[in-house]
Amino acid sequence: MPRTEFIATGFHVPERVVTNDDLSRMMETSDEWIAQRSGIRTRHWVSAGETGVSLAREATCRALDRAGMQAADLDCIVYCTCTPDHFEPGNGVFLARELGLSDVPAIDVRNQCSGFVYGLSVADAWIRTGQYRRVLLVGAEVHSRGLDRTTRGRDTAVLFGDGAGVAILGPTDDLQRGVLTTHLYADGRHAEKLWVDAPGLAHDPFISEELIRAGKHRAVMDGRDVFKYASVLMPQSIATALKQNGLTPADVKLLVPHQANLRIIEMVQKAAGLRDDQVYVNIQKYGNTTAASIPIALHEALDEGRLARGDLLVLTAFGSGFTWASAAVRW
Ligand code: ACO
Repeated sequence: MPRTEFIATGFHVPERVVTNDDLSRMMETSDEWIAQRSGIRTRHWVSAGETGVSLAREATCRALDRAGMQAADLDCIVYCTCTPDHFEPGNGVFLARELGLSDVPAIDVRNQCSGFVYGLSVADAWIRTGQYRRVLLVGAEVHSRGLDRTTRGRDTAVLFGDGAGVAILGPTDDLQRGVLTTHLYADGRHAEKLWVDAPGLAHDPFISEELIRAGKHRAVMDGRDVFKYASVLMPQSIATALKQNGLTPADVKLLVPHQANLRIIEMVQKAAGLRDDQVYVNIQKYGNTTAASIPIALHEALDEGRLARGDLLVLTAFGSGFTWASAAVRW
C-alpha cells in the first residue's frame, strides 16, 4: 500500500481586515480583552459577492499552480466546513462546478474545527487503498455573516474569522514518508456546548421567526468548558499519535494545532512537552477559521521554511461536538 503525501497547499482569505478596534465600534469589547484572552489582533471577513466556495476556489487555484496541475487532474474533493453556502447540497459540488469538474465525487465533512484532520483521515484511506489518486482536501469557512455582531454575541463574535486552506494529496511509494497515522475522536455528550440550534429539522417548522428572535441561528458556546476540554484532549491526541509511531515530543519538528485561541495553544504546547519553536501560531492574524485554520497555518509554515523533507509534522484539532483529532505526517 502507498502512503499519502502532501503535493501542494494553498490558502486564501478575504481582503477585508477587521481589527479588534473595529469590533469595539460594533459591540462592547476592547482590543485588550480580546488580545489578552485569545491572542487575536485581526481577522478577515468576506465582502459582498464572496462565499465560502469562492474562497475555496482561490485557495485551490493557488495550490494547483504550486503543484503544476490542472483542476482536471483532481479525481476527488473532500470539503470540510461547518459554514456551508447553502443548507443543501454540500459545498463540495459547488466547488467542483467552479473548477469545471463534472464527474468527480465531492463529499462534505461537517466536523467543525476538527474537520480538516477528519477529512485528511478520509482522503488518506482512499489514497492508500487506491480508490482515488489526487484528492483535493479543503477547509473553508465564512463565519462573519453568521456572527451576532452585537454585545449579545461578543463572546463568540470576536473569535472567528473567514478563510480557506487546501491541500492536494496523492500517493507516494516512499513508505518512510507521508501520513503515518490519523486519530479521530467524538463525544456527543458535549454537543450543545458549542452549537447552532437552527435552522434544523429537529424543529417544526425547521426555521421560524420565533427561532430567529430567540437567536437560535447563532453559535452559542460554553467557552470555559471548550477551553477546559480542548487543552486536555488535544495533548492527549498528540501523545497517542507519537506513541503509536514509536516517537517522542523531541522528534516533532512542527506541531500545527487548530488555531482556536492562543491560550489554548499555549496549554497544549505545555502539556505536550514542546518548545516554542516546535509550535506554529498565526491566530493573531486570522482568528479562529475552524476547518480552514490548520491548512492556512500549514501553508504559512511551509512558506516560512519551517518544514523540510523528512521532518515530523503533527496536526491536532478540537471543536464542536466535541470532536478532536490528530495526525502524524513524515514530510
Ligand atoms: N469583550 C468584553 N467582554 C466580554 C467579551 C468580549 N468580547 N465576551 C465576553 N465578555 C464578558 C462576559 O460578558 C463576562 O462578563 P461578566 O463577568 O460581567 O458576566 C466576562 O467577559 C467573561 O469573562 P471570563 O469568564 O473571565 O471570560 P473567560 O476568561 O472565560 O474568556 C473566552 C472567555 C475567551 C470565550 C474563553 O472562555 C475561551 O477562550 N474559551 C475557549 C473558546 C474557544 O476558543 N472557542 C473557539 C471555538 S472551539 C475551538 O475552536 C476549539
